[in-house]
Amino acid sequence: MSTPYETLTPSGKGLRITDRRITDFAPAEIRGLLAKYHWLSFKNHPVTVEDMIDYLPQYGQLTENDRRVGPVLKIDASKKDEGEVLLGQGFLPLHRDGVLMGYDIEIVAICCAQYENVTDGGRTFITDIENGCKDVPKEILDVIRERGIEGRPVDRYYTKPSDTWHWIPGFTELDGQEWLAIGFPYRKDEKPSWLLRIPGVEDERTTEMFEVLSSILMSERFCYYHAWEEGDVLLLDNRKVLHGREAFRGGPRRLANLQVLAS
Ligand SMILES: [Fe+2]
Repeated sequence: MSTPYETLTPSGKGLRITDRRITDFAPAEIRGLLAKYHWLSFKNHPVTVEDMIDYLPQYGQLTENDRRVGPVLKIDASKKDEGEVLLGQGFLPLHRDGVLMGYDIEIVAICCAQYENVTDGGRTFITDIENGCKDVPKEILDVIRERGIEGRPVDRYYTKPSDTWHWIPGFTELDGQEWLAIGFPYRKDEKPSWLLRIPGVEDERTTEMFEVLSSILMSERFCYYHAWEEGDVLLLDNRKVLHGREAFRGGPRRLANLQVLAS
């Protein structure tokens, strides 16, 4: 399948779509593009959160729980004064959605409802793990494959208990390939949304491993940094990419997260 659109990383993943609204696409066409490019960035043809609430159910069941208003999780820094990192302004390291919530999520849609006066960051980033992992030393991938990781919530947002570690497989299988499935840890100087360790691996070695992983997977060879404008939509295959958020100041920065559950 050829496409008139521009890819978003030198490794050839991500697609910038500027000539149509996402809601003008049939799901089969979007699924075809996601299968090849793993994430899509829609710009210049603004859609509202309400548009996405109407549009997305044709892809599958949407996540709804008491953290959400209908299917929408508002990410608008309204909880920053309560010290919640995810719902505040802090850095979110690379992760997959749903892991500390107990959901298997296929597609994540992030829509921008408002973006004004944001200074110092605020971009959402998405990385091409399919190609990025080819540059990661084999011994690091082997440790993650053999041991997996353990995560533990700090923010009250997550539904998994915060008084215990939760094991997470290092990779998951999909479409005949393995896909890196882990979240990344926080640096010591950052307020964490979650804690992370590798069972049986010393903290110092874990830190070293993730420094190597971050230097590769967050480099602009593999990682796309999305500068938000009102009406933008990012649509990503949650099982084939990892994503995160830069810390920021200012705002209002109001995003909405909607999730399509894997069937
Ligand atoms: Fe996320």
